[in-house]
Amino acid sequence: MPKHVAVIMDGNGRWAKKRGNQRIFGHRNGVQSVRETVRAAGELEIDYLTLYAFSTENWNRPKKEIDALMSLLITSIEKETPELIKNNVRLVTIGDQSLISEKVKTKLDGLIAKTKENTGLTVVLALSYSARWEITMAMQQIAKSIESGDLKPEEVTEQTITTTLSTAKIPDPDLLIRTSGEHRISNFLLWQIAYAELYFTETLWPDFRAENFYEAIYAYQQRERRFGKTSEQIL
Ligand code: FPP
Repeated sequence: MPKHVAVIMDGNGRWAKKRGNQRIFGHRNGVQSVRETVRAAGELEIDYLTLYAFSTENWNRPKKEIDALMSLLITSIEKETPELIKNNVRLVTIGDQSLISEKVKTKLDGLIAKTKENTGLTVVLALSYSARWEITMAMQQIAKSIESGDLKPEEVTEQTITTTLSTAKIPDPDLLIRTSGEHRISNFLLWQIAYAELYFTETLWPDFRAENFYEAIYAYQQRERRFGKTSEQIL
């Protein structure tokens, strides 16, 4: 079983368009998919589920869509809080908080605080997140440590970078799922997915159900992860 599954939830807009509806209709229907995926991951006793809910680049979408997505996020969080608490789910977020409105931040912080002590599945919500932004911030921090004399350039190791990223305390994803038939990473967890198995499905996010999640896990279990070694070495 993977310890950490990351998901690029894609295809909401196309799902809505196919039905002659506005893009937000797709996002609304995507919430049910989020619910099912969180439940399925919890039941399979997966430790971490990272969901790409909003990228740094998504801020360039029409304001109407951004506002609708943010309010959907707030209402979903409010509605799901009791269920998350009941299921022992802990919520954390990664991303550029400085771009998120106070209202959304307050609600998110509330839920993060309420689920802080939970010991089951950790849901990592990537919100206003992009990997290049995250790596840039880490580089700035490392540069400051060097400038202040706390760190020497030759002491910078892969571990230094890993522990300076916002995912410092989270193991790397074992499996990355992307829906909607797109075969891209789109600036998601670039450092962390170095050895992740990639799984692409044609299913649009609003159609994604627990069964689709199980299929992805099953596909992962058929893969041989060699981490650069030979088959014989890992037997
Ligand atoms: C990508 O589809 C999806 C998003 C940008 C938003 C994801 C948000 C949700 C599923 C809803 C709320 C989330 C939570 C965690 C409660 P797209 O709009 O890029 O679709 P397209 O590629 O078909 O245009």
